[in-house]
Amino acid sequence: MLRALAGEALPLPPVWLMRQAGRYLPEYRELRQRVPGFLDLCFTPELATEVTLQPVQRFGMDAAILFSDILVVAHGLGQEVQFREGEGPVLEPIRGAAELRRLSLDAFPGRVAPVFETVGRVAALLPGTTALIGFAGAPWTVASYMVEGGTSRDFATVKAWAFADPDGFGELIDRLVEATVIYLSGQIAAGAEVVQLFDSWSGVLPEPAFRRWVIAPTQRILRALRENHPKVPVIGFPRGAGLMYRAYFSESGVSALGLDSTVPPGIARKTLQSIGPVQGNLDPLMLLAGGAAMADSVMAIRRALGEGGFVFNLGHGIVPETPVEHVSELMSLLRQPLEPA
Ligand code: CP3
Repeated sequence: MLRALAGEALPLPPVWLMRQAGRYLPEYRELRQRVPGFLDLCFTPELATEVTLQPVQRFGMDAAILFSDILVVAHGLGQEVQFREGEGPVLEPIRGAAELRRLSLDAFPGRVAPVFETVGRVAALLPGTTALIGFAGAPWTVASYMVEGGTSRDFATVKAWAFADPDGFGELIDRLVEATVIYLSGQIAAGAEVVQLFDSWSGVLPEPAFRRWVIAPTQRILRALRENHPKVPVIGFPRGAGLMYRAYFSESGVSALGLDSTVPPGIARKTLQSIGPVQGNLDPLMLLAGGAAMADSVMAIRRALGEGGFVFNLGHGIVPETPVEHVSELMSLLRQPLEPA
């Protein structure tokens, strides 16, 4: 994994899968019943460690990703965050200066400390050949949940704030930049060897806003992280960025680029892998489908991207309905050398 992220082309690509720990795994569903809420799981290092290791033990991925959630940062800043069964996250929305003032960076490191403990425990248990990936949501994506109060269809409230009052909204982004630097630095200090920044909703912004709220905050995070951790690879995942992927990769400072499933691998090879290593991008619904359709898609991605720095992944997270056998099937496809075209 680390060699691929340093730009080396490998005959067999290293692989991990976004949301590789989660509800599609029976052992996850079983363990999940032992705690009342999802956040309790994220904040109980013993259980979060076990969940982090589950997919690696079952399938042998080349990396484990810390089990937590991007909204742990909102909680750590003092916002009320709940995960409701079948409904997803529900947050007490932040809509202006008064609510912003209630967020506190002072209490933040203490509130997220259990996550650092999980990273330390996983690092001690993983074999040296399996990388440990830490992560955070990028400021724009986390802000979208904090302002909308949950998952959104149109991002109307957060966009209205960002477009009409950029200086006011910028204070929330500033707070998130600072929290994210503390959060990722803590994970790295505890043993994370790679970190990924999830900007899952970057694709809803038009160009000038994309530069201001996606590229610029990512640049600030990278600059601060690199002061203390110059060598840790950072994977940026600006999902849905489309024609802005190139600007994001060349300007944000990330070491590697996560591609969503809509990015054509052949175009990515020429226009993005020429800048640096890439990761992706099997459609999670191809993994759900399995069979010949999945195999063809996997081969096409490997053929296009396997001759440069490349980490195999999905283009977004595994969906809960995915059969575990399809993940085994994918892993065995990836452990076979490519047949000559
Ligand atoms: O990848 C992994 O295996 C590590 C764990 C992980 C989770 N969430 C666990 C989780 C990671 C990396 C995330 C990131 C995350 N969380 C993102 C960015 C990636 C993406 O999907 O775009 C986002 C946007 C979130 C916010 C979030 N968390 C939502 C919208 C939901 C509800 C929808 C859903 O899938 O349930 C969650 C809950 C969540 N995060 C679950 C898991 C395993 C399911 C909760 C449960 O078990 O009850």
